[in-house]
Amino acid sequence: MRAVIVTGIMLASLTFAGAASASQELATSSGCLKCHAVGEKKVGPALKDVAAAHKGKNDEAALAAKISGAKDHPKVKASEDDVKKLVHWILTL
Ligand code: HEC
Repeated sequence: MRAVIVTGIMLASLTFAGAASASQELATSSGCLKCHAVGEKKVGPALKDVAAAHKGKNDEAALAAKISGAKDHPKVKASEDDVKKLVHWILTL
């Protein structure tokens, strides 16, 4: 029984790590990580700081629109769909 629980926890954390690195890969291939890092400021703010600043504001859609809009943020090559996924990921950091 104990082994089953431990295996379950390990599987769950593997799945979680998998989702996180898939998003990180998307952020890399989309060029976001040229200007951003998760934990430190580069050209753009640290993504953890972005997450903290937007916590509880429920403005994920507005944020994605801002990034895709290329007016108040440098132009990105990611599709609108990918930007939505990326913003969703960023806000979980
Ligand atoms: C050429 C550099 C550059 C690239 C590439 C870039 N960013 Fe940014 N980003 C910035 C700068 C500078 C800011 C701070 C000014 C601002 O808010 O626009 C920023 C801010 C942000 C913010 C916070 C906006 C806010 O209103 O708080 C988010 C979210 C973000 N970027 C997401 C992304 C995503 C997702 C990508 C990749 C698809 C990306 N960025 C690519 C430079 C960049």
